[in-house]
Amino acid sequence: MGFKIAIAGATGNVGREMLDILAERGFPADEVVALASRRSQGTEVSFGDKTLKVQAMENYDFSDTDICLMSAGGTISKEWSPRIGAKGCVVIDNSSAWRYDADVPLIVPEVNADAITGFTKKNIIANPNCSTAQLVVALKPLHDHAKIKRVVVSTYQSVSGGGKDAMEELFNQTRAVFVNDPIEPEKFTKRIAFNVIPHIDSFMEDGYTKEEWKVLAETKKMLDPKIKVTCTAVRVPVFIGHSESVNIEFENEITAEEARNILREAPGCLVIDKQEDGGYITPYESAGEDATYISRIREDATVENGLNMWVVSDNLRKGAALNTVQIAEVLVNRGLISPKKAAA
Ligand SMILES: NC(=O)c1ccc[n+]([C@@H]2O[C@H](COP(=O)([O-])OP(=O)(O)OC[C@H]3O[C@@H](n4cnc5c(N)ncnc54)[C@H](OP(=O)(O)O)[C@@H]3O)[C@@H](O)[C@H]2O)c1
Repeated sequence: MGFKIAIAGATGNVGREMLDILAERGFPADEVVALASRRSQGTEVSFGDKTLKVQAMENYDFSDTDICLMSAGGTISKEWSPRIGAKGCVVIDNSSAWRYDADVPLIVPEVNADAITGFTKKNIIANPNCSTAQLVVALKPLHDHAKIKRVVVSTYQSVSGGGKDAMEELFNQTRAVFVNDPIEPEKFTKRIAFNVIPHIDSFMEDGYTKEEWKVLAETKKMLDPKIKVTCTAVRVPVFIGHSESVNIEFENEITAEEARNILREAPGCLVIDKQEDGGYITPYESAGEDATYISRIREDATVENGLNMWVVSDNLRKGAALNTVQIAEVLVNRGLISPKKAAA
């Protein structure tokens, strides 16, 4: 007997990717239900070789559903996740609505899978921000080896991190440049085509953006509250794949060669690091892949026990949909939930 799974936000960038990944990985689901806003009711989405008719989430009864993979944005999640959880359906949420709640585990399975047991308090599990997910996958094995003191990260984030409208804006602006049409920024605050924007999410009182704050708060929650993290988050005109320049200061000695060997063995990591033309990963190559890629590993001689590296991953997969499905797999594989149908 398999599980009944609902995808909330099934017509979105992340939701569609979730459907693909559930099918690809052969998740033990008897039934998969596609949910979105009323606007999308009756439209179709693909699930493996099947087509699912989208239902309006507002009319859906979650009572006999086991897991809801939620990617409909923070406002919707704040309102709906507690209601869905109260029906005995475990919500795995992609928004930032629940990540910092002490009663909600924030999980990247390669990093802190054991913390998942805390989900029973609210029946909600949070998925981290896309930039944090790939960062902690690369940091965890190095932290275990040489204890990280401080991390300085600069992100180069693709437009798909802003949803399907943001991707359309990059496409339309790029086209407009070539045909000499006027460019009106809508989703982004400035032109994104052939430009970069050092601003993602809203500004906070200290001058950092919320996106930058998320990286440090989430790294501390999942990896170690003692690690100091500072971040600059930048949007770049790339469709899929977030990149990060990461500078790390360790408590203990670690060479670039040691780091390379540790990361080669680490779950979820793939090292591509030849010091020659093209011997590194770019976001374009990471699109559609599951790994967190690490390149350009080198020692930073300006600090004691310092390393620099380049970390790239598909933000819609490890940064969102893949990690969500992996969390659902942990729930199932550890026997933390069982199908409601079997109990009926
Ligand atoms: N993109 C990333 O890299 C990434 C990474 C980590 C986390 N996330 C988070 O994942 C969530 C979704 O992101 P996305 O990129 O997939 O956005 P998106 O492409 O804009 O899709 C949003 C989805 O939410 C649905 N939705 C909107 N209002 C709804 C309502 N009232 N009831 C039910 N469904 C509703 C939309 O349905 P309609 O088509 O009917 O409007 C659509 O399916 C966001 O919280 C985002 O922060 C995204």
